[in-house]
Amino acid sequence: MNIMITGGAGFIGNHVVRLFVNKYPQHRIVCADKLTYAGNLANLADVEHRENYCFEHVDICDFDSIVALMRKHNIDGIIHLAAESHVDRSIKDPFTFAQTNVMGTLSLLQAANMCWQGNYEGKRFYHISTDEVYGALQMDNPQGGNEPGGGPWGTAFFTEQTPYHPHSPYSAAKASSDHFVRAFHDTYGMPTLISNCSNNYGPYQFPEKLIPLFINNIRHRRPLPVYGKGENVRDWLFVEDHARAIDLIFHEGRVGDTYNIGGFNEWKNIDLIKVLIRTVDRLLGRADGEDDNLITFVTDRAGHDMRYAIDSRKLKTELGWQPSLQFEEGIERTVKWYLENQAWMDNITSGEYMKYYQEMYANR
Ligand code: NAD
Ligand code: DAU
Repeated sequence: MNIMITGGAGFIGNHVVRLFVNKYPQHRIVCADKLTYAGNLANLADVEHRENYCFEHVDICDFDSIVALMRKHNIDGIIHLAAESHVDRSIKDPFTFAQTNVMGTLSLLQAANMCWQGNYEGKRFYHISTDEVYGALQMDNPQGGNEPGGGPWGTAFFTEQTPYHPHSPYSAAKASSDHFVRAFHDTYGMPTLISNCSNNYGPYQFPEKLIPLFINNIRHRRPLPVYGKGENVRDWLFVEDHARAIDLIFHEGRVGDTYNIGGFNEWKNIDLIKVLIRTVDRLLGRADGEDDNLITFVTDRAGHDMRYAIDSRKLKTELGWQPSLQFEEGIERTVKWYLENQAWMDNITSGEYMKYYQEMYANR
């Protein structure tokens, strides 16, 4: 197959590209990315010279360029990750989120429709979405404790049947893009797939998101801005486990279907932050608890969703996927990676990586 992976220079995308390039030498992998602030070709340095890989600098909203690119590479599979992904940015700038996440997805769908011309034999359009489209779950059990059949903080989970109820401009735009993908399946018979995943963590995440931002701040002894009381709950999954699930769903998922992906691994933010402090301090040879005073409670995020928890049993039962890593091991690997790759982090926080792209693509 010739597979276009959009958003491949971002956090999850680079892990998906790496997995596909290494695992499928017979497939040609085209990474299509606009290189917004969140895209970074340094994330793909280890695969950039591989024979079955190439990079295309393109905006998914640019319909004509996407059509040209699909024809040039004879694309028959699309794994669509390109998006604006940060909730806080969506609160400040909702237009960009509607443009990229909704119109960009529509542009890709329509380009695929045009290029494939109703001949869907061997074709796949796989859209990567988020659990945030389902809205927020209650904290039935704020003190914690495992209810039979429930999570530590509440009894309900998001299933594939949970009605959509997005709250942030980010999740509203992702929900809208999911609807367009289903509409193309139902209207044109396009072979689409959708998965909705919980919070990912691991190497190469842009340091505006909780885990890399806080690891870097602890290292430099900067304040850790905890929104509200730090009581919100997220379900964390190691990014390579997400990439494995994407591989499985792309190749074996039932066309037209939706799969939830999650870790059954719920953490209150404040507890997770304490684990990060302990781990960074231990790995840097600092005394236990030395940096607890960095925790700084700040004004809560507007419309802050209380709890996410994914029921991923369908993916386990039907396709045999389950997370491979225990959270403790995943966090240890993640913290170590950021501490050992300070140059990667500094290149981003200094803005150097963006200057490089601006020069590289200045006259194109
Ligand atoms: P990211 O912000 O790290 O990366 C996004 C990538 O998309 C970047 O490389 C960026 O340059 C590219 N991009 C943005 N706009 C583009 C455009 N107009 N044209 C082409 N490329 C463009 O995002 P991420 O965290 O890797 O998330 C990837 C996908 O997975 C998103 O669709 C997101 O909604 C979804 N998702 C993320 C998580 C998570 O925890 N990070 C969880 C579930 C689902
Ligand atoms: O659930 C999947 C989603 O997970 C993805 O769809 C999004 O793309 C991804 O960004 C992530 O969204 P969150 O909003 O949950 O992630 P973030 O890392 O921004 O925040 C995690 C939690 O930590 C959330 O409850 C807000 C809180 N937080 C975050 C930051 C950046 C803080 O308390 N302080 C912070 O500085």
